[in-house]
Amino acid sequence: MQKLKVGIIGAGYIGDSHIEAIRRVGLPELTAIADVNYNLAKSKADAFGVEKCYKSLDDLVADEEINVIHNCTPTHLHLEINEKIIKAGKHVFSEKPLGRTSAESLQMVELLKKYPDTVAGVNFCYRMNALIQDTKNRIASGEIGKPYLVHGSYLQDWLLFETDYNWRIEPEYTGVSRCVGDIGSHWMDLAQVLTGSKIVEVCANTVIALPTRKKPAGVVETFAVNTDQNYTEVNVETEDYAGVLIKFDSGASGVFQCSEISAGRKCFIDIEIDGSKASFQWNQQTSDQMWKGNRNSNNEQIMRNPNLALGGAKKYSHLAAGHPEGWNDAFKNNLDAYYHFILDGKKMGKDPCDFATFEEAHYLMRLTEAVIKSGKEKRWVKLDEV
Ligand SMILES: NC(=O)c1ccc[n+]([C@@H]2O[C@H](COP(=O)([O-])OP(=O)(O)OC[C@H]3O[C@@H](n4cnc5c(N)ncnc54)[C@H](O)[C@@H]3O)[C@@H](O)[C@H]2O)c1
Repeated sequence: MQKLKVGIIGAGYIGDSHIEAIRRVGLPELTAIADVNYNLAKSKADAFGVEKCYKSLDDLVADEEINVIHNCTPTHLHLEINEKIIKAGKHVFSEKPLGRTSAESLQMVELLKKYPDTVAGVNFCYRMNALIQDTKNRIASGEIGKPYLVHGSYLQDWLLFETDYNWRIEPEYTGVSRCVGDIGSHWMDLAQVLTGSKIVEVCANTVIALPTRKKPAGVVETFAVNTDQNYTEVNVETEDYAGVLIKFDSGASGVFQCSEISAGRKCFIDIEIDGSKASFQWNQQTSDQMWKGNRNSNNEQIMRNPNLALGGAKKYSHLAAGHPEGWNDAFKNNLDAYYHFILDGKKMGKDPCDFATFEEAHYLMRLTEAVIKSGKEKRWVKLDEV
């Protein structure tokens, strides 16, 4: 089988994970890395033995050998770069959130309608954890009955101090939302994938706990500690926290909170679905374990086990039970699903896929906007209002 040739644009924090996952999947061949910081791209290309290195998207897109481009740049560049990739006739795998606003994500969804052969995926990677895929199938098969409630959180602490800074603080780069768009969207994606239903109404309390921050003169990498003593004090317009009541089209209700200022919480994404027969609860920090709550019998601790995985989930569970799998493996599963979709000649909108599509990412963008609108207007907001 001929390997697909792949390029990455954006060699920062998440770019590293794309490099690793592409190499682990094996079907694609990482052929080029591009970054506006050429030295960074070059150092990564040298470290991983990647053949080509570019300093702009235009150079990467002009490379006729490249079939697929991963967009790992900051959010303000997703629209411009994804559009160029699609128009160049290449497949695109974009980072999330898909855009700064739902107007931007809609523009990409509309453009894709003119390119039916383009395979376009978005990196909502948590859904591809082996136990999440297994649990999705268990819930669909009726194991916990009808889902009544969905609740949980995504908590981090990397922006706790006023000296913590990153491009995500600024609306120009991040868009209408920071915390909800960046991490709340991952939680909402999980909630929708697990229940097979859509969130259609939200009521939010959004909080800017640190109204000013010390912006350093230099760049601070994602999740890095800022040590720069030269700073200017800036006003903050994006939320540090959101607490959100939610309603699903299935009739289920729930609540989630997301925070980037919860000391000690790193990537604490936790979700529980309470059904009419039983409950499931999962936390990605212990992602090989699933708790099942029962009413009339003892509760159960389910361990990821490829031999017991339900339906199509078996293909996402690689190691024997007892050898932990985690975030990197979910990431690899996401790309595995994406690249098999291309190589099997499947078509977006016609064939089902497990990875997130641009349409799903646009829906999550609309939900993010609905949360921000609700927080501002202090009322329930229906999705069709945004
Ligand atoms: N799926 C996930 O779980 C996940 C996790 C982290 C980040 N992300 C997303 O990935 C994106 C990037 O985030 P990050 O934390 O890696 O950011 P980052 O700042 O660490 O890296 C971004 C890289 O893009 C490069 N870049 C900037 N402008 C460019 C341009 N015009 N052309 C080429 N390269 C350019 C920068 O030099 C930098 O190396 C964001 O949209 C973020 O939301 C997703």
